[in-house]
Amino acid sequence: KTDIIKFKGNAKDKVYLKKISDTLKSGGLVVLPTETVYGLGGNGLNKRACKKIYEAKGRPSDNPLILHIAENSQLDALVAEIPDVAKKCMEKFWPGPLTIIFKRSEIIPDEATGGLDTVAIREPSNEIAHAILKAVDFPVAAPSANLSGRPSPTKVEHVIEDLNGRVDIIVDGGHSVVGIESTVLDVTVDPPMILRPGKITLEDLREIDENIRIDSATIDAKSGEIPKSPGQKYRHYAPRAEAICFGGRLDKVVNEIKKNIKKNKDKKIAVLATDETFEEYKNLDIKLLINLGSRDNLEEVATNLFDALRRCDEENVDIIFAEGFELRGMGLSIMNRLLKACSGKVVMRI
Ligand code: TXA
Ligand code: MG
Repeated sequence: KTDIIKFKGNAKDKVYLKKISDTLKSGGLVVLPTETVYGLGGNGLNKRACKKIYEAKGRPSDNPLILHIAENSQLDALVAEIPDVAKKCMEKFWPGPLTIIFKRSEIIPDEATGGLDTVAIREPSNEIAHAILKAVDFPVAAPSANLSGRPSPTKVEHVIEDLNGRVDIIVDGGHSVVGIESTVLDVTVDPPMILRPGKITLEDLREIDENIRIDSATIDAKSGEIPKSPGQKYRHYAPRAEAICFGGRLDKVVNEIKKNIKKNKDKKIAVLATDETFEEYKNLDIKLLINLGSRDNLEEVATNLFDALRRCDEENVDIIFAEGFELRGMGLSIMNRLLKACSGKVVMRI
């Protein structure tokens, strides 16, 4: 049986925090809110707790976990070395939505890293996460708190849908403010490489080291091309429906989506639109029209994205037409998730 806990901002919170830390200390699983997405937490130095995380998520055990810490001072014991570039990144972006990959120290169990000799570490800024991490004296391993293959959870309802009955405690922290997972930066290679784009963008990181690059598997940012046949790497976040993302000039994108709506009259259609285009689709035959927010505020779009994909599942739509975004800044991070949602399905560029 899973306990769902919500902090009240009064004396009761101490009791809740004790219960949460006791559960983690005894090897239990606690879903905690972070500023990016909810995390499925367990003692990152405890093999059995790590194993339980994989089981609860239904995640393949070779996909490594992120260890979450409360303070920079915890880092020394967990890593073999801290390169200068990592120090600068920590100073600028921690606590916050940046995960850094280090060479690991001896105390990290293989169960946390999928057997790799590196370890992913992040110091979240969310206050509840911070309080929980401070209440225990070990790092908390926490992958996103979704069942493997589903979109990451940004609301407690998403977590309950996926993990109720599979974990000991779910902590309700409201809506995640960032809404997409942390940026993952590998500093064990030279120059450092972004393995997953997030709110901390390539442009942000290049202010620290102009040589930082991005793994081309995330998206081919140089050519601006969207990969035509997404491979294995785009297996995640797949909604049940077929999803097609249209990239290019916005007026052309809108026209193309309208044409496709007409062509697919017999199907239940969802459209992922933006403030700028929302009205264009209003009187058309669409089951679910979602406004992700303004193109001038991609932070807002990111916050709403995973909830939108889950709503498409709830409404049982057959096909999702998504507008694309520019492949720079947060746009690139959003497109990385959208392309994964279009896994194995047609992705077009016009
Ligand atoms: O925002 C986030 O990062 C959330 C919250 C809960 O902190 N967590 C999260 O964890 O997204 P997860 O497990 O869903 O994603 C971790 C990513 C995976 O793509 C994993 O392959 C990569 O980080 N990763 C972890 N350790 C790694 C390592 N040692 N080397 C390379 N990639 C690693
Ligand atoms: Mg995940």
